[in-house]
Amino acid sequence: MSGDRIPSPPEDEVGVGGKKRIIVLASGRGSNFQAILDELSEGSTNGTCVRLISDVPGCFAIERAKFAGVPVTVVDYRAFSSKEDYEKALFHAIKECSPDLILLAGYMRILGREIVRSFHGKIMNIHPALLPSFPGLHAQRQALGYGVKVAGCTVHFVDEMMDSGPIILQKCVPVFPDDDEDRLSERILNEEHRCFPYAVKLFCQDRLEINGRMVRVLQGTPFSRDSHETD
Ligand code: GRF
Repeated sequence: MSGDRIPSPPEDEVGVGGKKRIIVLASGRGSNFQAILDELSEGSTNGTCVRLISDVPGCFAIERAKFAGVPVTVVDYRAFSSKEDYEKALFHAIKECSPDLILLAGYMRILGREIVRSFHGKIMNIHPALLPSFPGLHAQRQALGYGVKVAGCTVHFVDEMMDSGPIILQKCVPVFPDDDEDRLSERILNEEHRCFPYAVKLFCQDRLEINGRMVRVLQGTPFSRDSHETD
């Protein structure tokens, strides 16, 4: 785990409008959150993580945030008597950050409609399957159970349905005959850790254009392209 504070990117790689304000929502171990922090600390992404918001007090993502010096807000789901009250508190916590981009990095709840509508085109999720196949929980188990030969991950914008918004990036991994859920999950997770930060980088360079279900990746200036783009 890297504990580097986020340095300022070189001047020629900073967008004209300054760095994008990114917040991350996470409920668990936070390995995708860490991958994002590591990418941001490397300095070539025009963004800064201004806060982690978690619904699970004590989860490891919070430890990662503290280690990296990222402020944390805990909105403990269990402390609210209704989902509506929880969503109101979450909405308030999010609005206070004035985010340009909200990342669901292992956030294990469905975001309420008001939040999704208010931040249309500004919320991204990572899912451990090649959507639209295997939405929801235990995607890797679903994939193995179905007998697929190829699995993978998807980064997509969030809409009001579960795991259904416009797809930004997908990466495939092979499924081997002797795979179990852990082995397959680990193989997919490796790709998640590359895909999610890269989608964030594209967003921060204003290179993602949404048109209905289609997300177009716009050409970058030479300095804003990198080796991923030949993948
Ligand atoms: C990842 O597999 C992600 O695709 C899914 O939840 C898992 C979170 O893992 N949405 P981590 O907390 O980022 O390690």
